[in-house]
Amino acid sequence: MKRAAIAWVCLVLPVWVQGENELPAAVAGCVECHRAQGVPGLPGWPRLAGMDRSAIVDILRGHRDRLVPDSTMDKVASTLDDAQIDAAADYYSRLEPSDPPPFDLGD
Ligand code: HEC
Repeated sequence: MKRAAIAWVCLVLPVWVQGENELPAAVAGCVECHRAQGVPGLPGWPRLAGMDRSAIVDILRGHRDRLVPDSTMDKVASTLDDAQIDAAADYYSRLEPSDPPPFDLGD
């Protein structure tokens, strides 16, 4: 019983507390690579958690409008409209930048 209570505090509570920053539909495809927490899915990939909102908007529009030369993000951003870009930028910029990466990046 006690274990169940501890599991609830560890697993359910953080999700519930973070509730005000809900994952927008526009971000559904991003989590595969950037994760819901905005921390890299692979070493060396950029961290989005706590990034400046306008920087995220600029970067995504740049990729979408092909101002940034060939990159992974071109293909992703080409499917986004302005509202989706804003939603993604709102979401990732509000995340806590101190969220630890899921693996040890070393120094
Ligand atoms: C297939 C994997 C993949 C998916 C899906 C993906 N990204 Fe990325 N993203 C990357 C990689 C790799 C980079 C770094 C290289 C580049 O810019 O292409 C990156 C870079 C970025 C950057 C620039 C970060 C910086 O510090 O320069 C932003 C912002 C970003 N992604 C946002 C998003 C958003 C928002 C979505 C969902 C709409 C998304 N990404 C989906 C792989 C992905």
